Amino acid sequence: MKFNLNQFLLALSDALDFVEINTLGSTSFHSKRVAYIALRLSAFYNLNEKEKFDLCSFAILHDNGLSEEVVVSKFESTPQISNLSTLEKYTKHCNIGEKNIVGFPFLSKHKDIVKYHHENYNGTGFFKLKGAEIPLLSQIIALADTVDNLFHFELPSIKNRQKIISFINEKENTWYSKELVKNFNTLSKLPSFWLDLQCPNLEKLILKNITSFTMNIEIEHLVKLSSVFSTIIDSNSSFTARHSSGLSNKVEKMSYFYKYDSEKVMKMIIAANLHDLGKLAVPNKILDKQSSLNAEEFEVVKCHTYYTRQALEKIDGFEDIVEWGANHHEKLNGEGYPYGFGADKLTQEARLMTCLDIYQALTEERPYRKGMSHTDAMNILITQASKGYIDKNIVQDINKVFK
Ligand SMILES: [Fe+2]
Ligand SMILES: [Fe+2]
Ligand SMILES: [Fe+2]
Ligand SMILES: [Fe+2]
Repeated sequence: MKFNLNQFLLALSDALDFVEINTLGSTSFHSKRVAYIALRLSAFYNLNEKEKFDLCSFAILHDNGLSEEVVVSKFESTPQISNLSTLEKYTKHCNIGEKNIVGFPFLSKHKDIVKYHHENYNGTGFFKLKGAEIPLLSQIIALADTVDNLFHFELPSIKNRQKIISFINEKENTWYSKELVKNFNTLSKLPSFWLDLQCPNLEKLILKNITSFTMNIEIEHLVKLSSVFSTIIDSNSSFTARHSSGLSNKVEKMSYFYKYDSEKVMKMIIAANLHDLGKLAVPNKILDKQSSLNAEEFEVVKCHTYYTRQALEKIDGFEDIVEWGANHHEKLNGEGYPYGFGADKLTQEARLMTCLDIYQALTEERPYRKGMSHTDAMNILITQASKGYIDKNIVQDINKVFK
């Protein structure tokens, strides 16, 4: 299967921007803007195209650890945190972020770039690395991160540009190397640089700055890649810590039961790994609520499959995966969300995903309750099928396979 890494990267950047919606209520497209600034700075260094591509990936991924529950809950219990830069002060997001991305198909050999994106040049950062000990790509991302955190909370006025430039220059030799500050000064003289940062189509600007990498990727590899996402999604909350991975195991079993060919089985697993991607945008205080949700909170939850679709639609070759993964809250009678698709639009594979998603959620253990038994879960599925929500034949088959 030919597969475009750029598209995958941008889908990933959407997911990372969802995390900002979760923690801060709206997104400033921080990950995309940091990637853009980092790419512009990379022009001053002797990086090859693959390294530049990786710099872009690392920059997009730099704060992926912020979705982890421990970080998010810190945020929720600390009301004075009102922006990303304060949230980023938690060291843990660097370790977690590095761990989450082990399976990503980087093209060059750089290591620990995400882990060290908050190091200071004088050794006063999270891990006390100093000078050249800090990987160059981490240094570039660190400066880009600061510039963006200063940039997007102020009006993009000329005065604000000056404020940012002065701030970066004050940090010469303490936070950043002399050379990096010099390069930033050269870049910041261009009005186009600042205007680009305000551009609503950051994706286009990012793509202009990196070579397109279309790789011939084996679908097995794609399965692994999708599990990078599912780790990030599952780590969002201990309440659903194994939901996506648990679902993908069950999807695999049922796919073999239906004798799907091996490519289709793998596509189903990818769809299961990614089905709740949009949950990264749902605040944890809603996701983790132990009592039932009020109407407003439920409306927020309903966004998640819409966002899943939006992100995955960017990837050519993912058409089936989108239909199988993003429709798991639609109902056969058209009363589901977010599109109200009915039986005519819902394929066998999408219906299977829906039934298994419910079965998985009911049978998995949550911190506040035990997982339901197979029989109890089946009773709920049977009731839902009798109401015309889900496919009754599939429900019977699930009973056969998991009894
Ligand atoms: Fe960070
Ligand atoms: Fe950041
Ligand atoms: Fe869902
Ligand atoms: Fe789910």
